[in-house]
Amino acid sequence: MSLCKRRGFIFQSSEIYGGINGFWDYGPLGAELKRNVKEAWWRAMVSQRDDIVGLEATIIMSPKIWKASGHVDTFADLMRECPLTKKRVRADQVEPQSGTVVRYSGISHAGNASSKNFAVLLPPGKPIESARKIANQFYTENGHSDFILLGEQVEKVENSVDFHPESGVMLTEARPFNLMFKTYVGPLESEDNVAYLRPETAQAIFAQFKNVLETSRQKVPFGIAQIGKAFRNEVTPRNFTFRSREFEQMELEYFIKPDEAVEAICGTAAAPASKDHPGEPQPNWGWQLWHQYWVEERIKFYDSIGLPRAMLEEYWQKPDELAHYARATVDILYKFPFGAQELEGIAARSDFDLSQHQRFSGKAMGVFDDELKAAWEKLPKERQEALRGRYYENRKKYLAKTARPNETHEQIDKQAREDADALAKGQYIPHVIEPSAGVDRLILALICNAYAEDQAPDEKGKMETRIVLKFHPRVAPIKVAVFPLLKNKPELVAKAKSVRDILRRHMSVFYDEAGAIGRRYRRQDEIGTPFCVTIDFETLGEKGETLADTVTLRDRDSMKQERLKISELLPFLLSKLC
Ligand code: GAP
Repeated sequence: MSLCKRRGFIFQSSEIYGGINGFWDYGPLGAELKRNVKEAWWRAMVSQRDDIVGLEATIIMSPKIWKASGHVDTFADLMRECPLTKKRVRADQVEPQSGTVVRYSGISHAGNASSKNFAVLLPPGKPIESARKIANQFYTENGHSDFILLGEQVEKVENSVDFHPESGVMLTEARPFNLMFKTYVGPLESEDNVAYLRPETAQAIFAQFKNVLETSRQKVPFGIAQIGKAFRNEVTPRNFTFRSREFEQMELEYFIKPDEAVEAICGTAAAPASKDHPGEPQPNWGWQLWHQYWVEERIKFYDSIGLPRAMLEEYWQKPDELAHYARATVDILYKFPFGAQELEGIAARSDFDLSQHQRFSGKAMGVFDDELKAAWEKLPKERQEALRGRYYENRKKYLAKTARPNETHEQIDKQAREDADALAKGQYIPHVIEPSAGVDRLILALICNAYAEDQAPDEKGKMETRIVLKFHPRVAPIKVAVFPLLKNKPELVAKAKSVRDILRRHMSVFYDEAGAIGRRYRRQDEIGTPFCVTIDFETLGEKGETLADTVTLRDRDSMKQERLKISELLPFLLSKLC
């Protein structure tokens, strides 16, 4: 964190006013790093593929979207509150504490009693008077005066998670707390004008699914990708930027055919045969293979920007951890210094999302698949019935789970039958695989992963500790630094500036002429610049023709230096960045 601030990667938001919890700003180098990461993602997910297109939707959307997605009703964390300070903690994140608990059954006041309980945990060594002081403060702040504390009881506890970590006061019962930030659209602050800052970018993709499908000439299977801000009023933001209240996501919704359609077309829906990358997508893939494909593609992506597989873990959510609509979810964890934690989740979300938007908006979200229609007509009767039956059961399960209170079994059954009939005519609601990554978490992982300290000689040859950020050149904020050996030699400066100008059209270059060359190298090491180029007297041809127009290229990690022709510099550097 200190390096991030010192070198201009990440600053606390609103720092001059004391900061604002859960919000972070990216300084000059952080902004470059973030852009590089987002560009690498976009390149891998959109530009280099034929089957994925992009979207850039608004942050504020119709609140009906969040009703349909379930966020209004269920996007909540259970939280507990300190009744004295009103500070809240996530119920599943209370640090265990040990000590002496002092409980009060209430107070007596001018002959009347109040039975409002209060308890506080005293750490070892604290006198009981401090518990009385806190209890007095609590009852006073609750509007009482001239009272006496009742029913004082003292008890030892070990590893209790019932007390606020700062105040020691017994927490309230857990209550759900919706994480969406609310605002109002227009000048009237009325319930009708409530809107939310999006808590994920994904829902815009579902809401625009039909428009994208109709305008992009894509056919299922295909994907829609989006990068953008998301907002969550996290109860306890923590671990630097890891859990923030404003952050960015890079999300892909990859739409696939339901397995019944794949089976009708290809005979079977292929399932994973091993844990390896399944290779190029095939028409006969069922949802499990698509899911595995995306898990492996994403791990490949992390490796390509310098997060090796060895630093990642795959966590397959257990059946009781899965969201009710998810068929499988794999979390990709990075081994952060504070433990292995989620970087990205890859969920097989069935046809839940588009179905919800169809039900809530009344607009059809299904697609027509002529391949399916043609294949279906050629299927034997009993095969048609088997596939139709399975599709009907799946649709009924979804419809029953999300039924409105006034919906009857008959209505659900009728709808499921209609959906199954539509399948036989080549129509279905696509299923989706969702790789959803956080930009800020990835930045934090890249910084943690890049940070290294080693020993290197200083100007006088004495060994000193070198701090180096070993970013992959693809994401490094500055790709190359260009130095004239001396700043008071105009020929060296002019030549160095001409090299800078050649490179600058293609990558971020830092030009530095101040200080001893060793110090300049160290500064670049600390911000993760993979290469430094020095222009010296050899470059000017003063030490013979053979070295004229050559430069010293120094590698950040090995600290090795080699001479290279200026004309070779750009192709060499570009080969490291592609
Ligand atoms: N659409 C699915 C979705 O939003 P999620 O697991 O809640 O799933 C996806 O979020 C990713 O977004 C996470 O893996 C994480 O990288 C990032 N993310 C979520 N909440 C975050 C927060 N409070 N601060 C920073 N990143 C967050």
